[in-house]
Amino acid sequence: MISTAMQKAINEQINKELYSSYLYLSMAAYFENKNLPGFAKWLYVQEDEERGHGMKFFKYLLERGGTVNLAPIAGPETNWKTNLDVFKQVQEHEAAVTASINALYELALNEKDYPTQILLQWFITEQVEEEKNAGDIVHQLELIDAHGTAVLMLDKQLGKRGAD
Ligand SMILES: [Fe+2]
Ligand SMILES: [Fe+2]
Repeated sequence: MISTAMQKAINEQINKELYSSYLYLSMAAYFENKNLPGFAKWLYVQEDEERGHGMKFFKYLLERGGTVNLAPIAGPETNWKTNLDVFKQVQEHEAAVTASINALYELALNEKDYPTQILLQWFITEQVEEEKNAGDIVHQLELIDAHGTAVLMLDKQLGKRGAD
């Protein structure tokens, strides 16, 4: 049986993952409106992954005999100044999620909750990838600035992202 403190923390993490999904979906809509379907595609894949992360915690909590408490999901913003601002926010958001996963791991260590530690190891590895992916796009956008042709080329490239 999972501890009350761990159950609460995992429920909060479910909310954070679902909020991530909402945020990326809102960003996808922003790019659709700007006629940049490749950027939008990248974010659709990303938002689907985040829902998957939420479901991993959801199923795990049930497997451990815990109670799932679905709290309201906050509404993300809908507008950004530049393409770069969007991906800077993705990068910052992923760094915040990493901090949250690390705090969960700390709790699992303190509680000697070994199964939760194993689950979280997957998420720790995943966050390295998430931060790298967001950082790469930030760097590319910084390189091309607002150059129209280069933005369209990057849009084509991002549009090739498959579910991974
Ligand atoms: Fe996530
Ligand atoms: Fe993420």
